[in-house]
Amino acid sequence: MENAIDITLTVNGAKVSRRVEPRVHLVDFLREELGLTGSHIGCEHGVCGACTLRVDGTIVRGCLMLAVQADGCKVDTIEGISDSKEAARLQKAFHERNALQCGFCTPGMLMAAQDLVLQRKSFTRDEIRNHISGNYCRCTGYQSIVDAIEEVVNGKS
Ligand code: FES
Ligand code: FES
Repeated sequence: MENAIDITLTVNGAKVSRRVEPRVHLVDFLREELGLTGSHIGCEHGVCGACTLRVDGTIVRGCLMLAVQADGCKVDTIEGISDSKEAARLQKAFHERNALQCGFCTPGMLMAAQDLVLQRKSFTRDEIRNHISGNYCRCTGYQSIVDAIEEVVNGKS
């Protein structure tokens, strides 16, 4: 690793230091170096949302960010948020509404949905659709996903 760079970041609350190649994307670093495989890789060019992560409080595409760019940052993955009460409510609503089939999009969808829940206000269905418009699902047709998110963000569950 001739050009490798030392980075330190906080992942799901734990400090992590590694030596990484500058070309390694953040989602690959998380999956391959840290074994956090909950973030999926679909298109690898910022379109499908399967790799959605939270970096310093903002949701980002893990396939468009390099691991070295996350040096000093706080990174949260689906593994880190899954014990939060927002995620638990979303997971329950997704389950009850059949808002997943193959489940490939689900971690990214939950990361995006949690972002709405954390804003602690009501959203219309159009606003929810707009918020998840960067998260593709090839199975469900989205209706049940919007139903599940609406149920949680608008306080019905
Ligand atoms: S894998 Fe990152 S947006 Fe598709
Ligand atoms: S449940 Fe299969 S891609 Fe969304």
